[in-house]
Amino acid sequence: MRIACLGGGPAGLYLAISMKLRDPAHVVDLFERNRPDDTFGWGVVFSDQTVENLMANDPVSAAVIAQEFAHWDDIDVHIGGETIRSSGHGFIGIGRKRLLNILQGRARELGVTLNFEHEASADLADWAGYDLVIAADGANSRIRDRYEPHFGVDIEVRRNKFFWFGTHKVFEAFTFAFERTPAGWIWAHAYRFDDDLSTFIVEMDPETWVGLGFDAMDQPEAIALCERIFAKYLDGNALISNATHLPGPQAWLNFRRIKCDIWSHENLVLLGDAAHTAHFSIGSGTKLALEDAIKLAEVLNRPGLTREAALAEYQAERNLEVLKLQNSARNSTEWFETLDRYLHFEPIQFAYSLLTRSQRVSHENLRLRDKEWLEGVERWFQSQAVGTEVNEPAPPMFAPLRLRGLELVNRVVVSPMATYSAVDGTPNDFHLVHYGARAQGGAGLLYTEMTCVSAEGRITPGCTGLYASEHVAAWRRIVDFVHANSSAKFCLQLGHSGSKGSTKVGWEGYDVPLDGGNWPLIAASDVPWSADNQVPRPMSRADMDAVIAQFVAAVRLGLEAGFDMIELHAAHGYLLSSFITPLTNKRTDEHGGSLENRLRFPLEVFRAMRAAWPDQRPMSVRISATDWMGELGITPDEAVEIGRAFWAAGADLIDVSAGQTWADCQPVYGRMFQTPFADQVRNEGRVTTMAVGNIYEPDHVNSILAAGRADLVALARPHLIDPSWTLRAAAAQDYRRVAVPAPYLGGMAQLARNLAREAELKA
Ligand SMILES: Cc1cc2nc3c(=O)[nH]c(=O)nc-3n(C[C@H](O)[C@H](O)[C@H](O)COP(=O)(O)OP(=O)(O)OC[C@H]3O[C@@H](n4cnc5c(N)ncnc54)[C@H](O)[C@@H]3O)c2cc1C
Ligand SMILES: Cc1cc2nc3c(=O)[nH]c(=O)nc-3n(C[C@H](O)[C@H](O)[C@H](O)COP(=O)(O)O)c2cc1C
Repeated sequence: MRIACLGGGPAGLYLAISMKLRDPAHVVDLFERNRPDDTFGWGVVFSDQTVENLMANDPVSAAVIAQEFAHWDDIDVHIGGETIRSSGHGFIGIGRKRLLNILQGRARELGVTLNFEHEASADLADWAGYDLVIAADGANSRIRDRYEPHFGVDIEVRRNKFFWFGTHKVFEAFTFAFERTPAGWIWAHAYRFDDDLSTFIVEMDPETWVGLGFDAMDQPEAIALCERIFAKYLDGNALISNATHLPGPQAWLNFRRIKCDIWSHENLVLLGDAAHTAHFSIGSGTKLALEDAIKLAEVLNRPGLTREAALAEYQAERNLEVLKLQNSARNSTEWFETLDRYLHFEPIQFAYSLLTRSQRVSHENLRLRDKEWLEGVERWFQSQAVGTEVNEPAPPMFAPLRLRGLELVNRVVVSPMATYSAVDGTPNDFHLVHYGARAQGGAGLLYTEMTCVSAEGRITPGCTGLYASEHVAAWRRIVDFVHANSSAKFCLQLGHSGSKGSTKVGWEGYDVPLDGGNWPLIAASDVPWSADNQVPRPMSRADMDAVIAQFVAAVRLGLEAGFDMIELHAAHGYLLSSFITPLTNKRTDEHGGSLENRLRFPLEVFRAMRAAWPDQRPMSVRISATDWMGELGITPDEAVEIGRAFWAAGADLIDVSAGQTWADCQPVYGRMFQTPFADQVRNEGRVTTMAVGNIYEPDHVNSILAAGRADLVALARPHLIDPSWTLRAAAAQDYRRVAVPAPYLGGMAQLARNLAREAELKA
């Protein structure tokens, strides 16, 4: 096969090597515009896994690379005059120039023709003599851009500015240094990559960049300012630029996230940064480039595989890896772009948040890396929670939380879940057993299902209600059981179905209208949930007053029933949510239009409820933090405003859910997929939040809490099949101080022993 490699970065060189290794008869010509020793950038970092992959592919070059690696274990986070050091992170670094020189040598040795100072043509016609043309010409690939429509290129220019410096200061640890300037925060990512050189990337948001005057500074001035700002870390060493040919402001870059739907066109194949990029803050671009090269060489040389099949397999396998990594990279990029959210954290929590920012590193990963440090975080977390110094580490999920006069024994919550098992709104034995079992299962807080404030406010005929005396008595029985037999507190979720009412019970079809006996619906506007659902009547002022009175009456009945807390359901497209989202609120009066107007009625309801509920008892509000409809609907930025508005009206907790407000919305599902919204509402709005949504492992819960992404964590579906989720989590973490119903103590002890034995065997 005759192959032209356009670009002599890690991707191009390693593909050339990998092809020749598999078949020396291949002719590989590589074209690089620079000289062999010219390179942008300084050092790159790898993981142990990447080294193993390199070893398996080409032990000869891998052995040379491995000899040159700088290893380090520690990460130092400098913030607010403190240094937080954690260990066990296991990084390997090498100079980019050194890596390229090693790969160039190996390529030559294997018979690759290396053409330096050769600007490669972006016209496929000029490569007619080759079977395959490899676009390994980096993120700004000219040939990819020339044939752009065939690749479905998606480029996102991120907002922060960065400059990739080198320095002779040798950092002992991977260093993150955050400095406050009069114009805003500026920070450095620094790591050593050989005996006397370190990478030093300086980053900041664009406002700070302009505020500090970098937009009008030449390079020497910009470098001098960075050296002054980071003087205490540099010990007199200079910052060195290898982009000196560029005017000052242009030497600062904005990261470009690139992805492509299709990775090949005719005989042109994208490789490395030409196909995709991963943010420098997770340092995996070179790894991806090298692993692309290994896979491409492998499929192209597999006997019996056509070129089309080979390229299809290459794209399918590599794209999956890339998407996973880009997902983590996006989390990490966003963390640095929204740094302001976390600057009020104490340094230890700030460092934890930084270390877990990509969501690839969790609480238990940190324990494996540095148990002592993690236990320090756990002690700190518990001390904050109880308000006095605690010496015993404990999982964050088992820290108490106080909301007004209510003390929760831990941070695990049974999320509200409709059981559709009531008759005429009255809960029965099913509910007694259902809630009783979950209360005894160890969660600190238990929510009722959405309990409706009127018969017409029910979603289905099976929904519970709180609008008649028989409802109060039935709920009282359940609340009393919960209080007498568990340490769980019980929160009553009150709601009105609005345009999503008069439908079948969940298992007969979600949001499907009843076959008969439908009741009329009300909502903000005459927007039906779907073409199959009834058109609701837009609410008049009289309707609003009536609904407020129903909510207030239900609050009073909830008090009689003995509930500890009340939540107003203002999410998921139900009545109050239909006012908040612009997708369903088409009103032209003072309840439509601006967010302030759309919140007017839900806030009126909330304030009236608050006034009827004892001061010492807390209240929460469930919101949909996004409609998953982009700018057409509620955005997470608006969710911060919504959270703040309810907080100002007396809410003690914002329960941050998302979506279910528009039938055709496009949610992006995944592990903990709604937690970023709880994080944003909490840390931008400075309110207490609860996270919910595909959180199912104790490790998720601990990570969310310790990172300050939420104050409580709710699990819904996991509790459907495992009422004792919290007890199981306690046993798995060998946490003994959880409240276990006395008759279950033996089971708990045995579970803990078995899980410990299993963990030992696994280790
Ligand atoms: C600030 C920063 C820090 C980074 N840190 C890390 C890190 O720690 N770890 C990590 O793994 N990755 C890191 N990366 C990413 C890493 O540099 C890239 O992912 C990696 O270099 C991709 O390799 P590549 O061969 O695909 O592209 P490149 O390394 O960009 O190589 C492309 C080559 O093509 C050449 N070229 C371009 N156009 C032409 C043309 N028309 N004709 C001839 N030659 C051409 C270029 O000169 C270049 O040599 C970082 C990137 C940045 C910006
Ligand atoms: C069967 C079922 C019923 C639900 N009923 C309600 C409800 O009554 N009120 C509410 O706010 N959310 C309700 N939800 C949403 C959950 O509280 C939770 O937000 C959602 O299921 C995501 O959490 P999970 O991934 O842990 O299940 C329900 C979810 C399920 C699965």
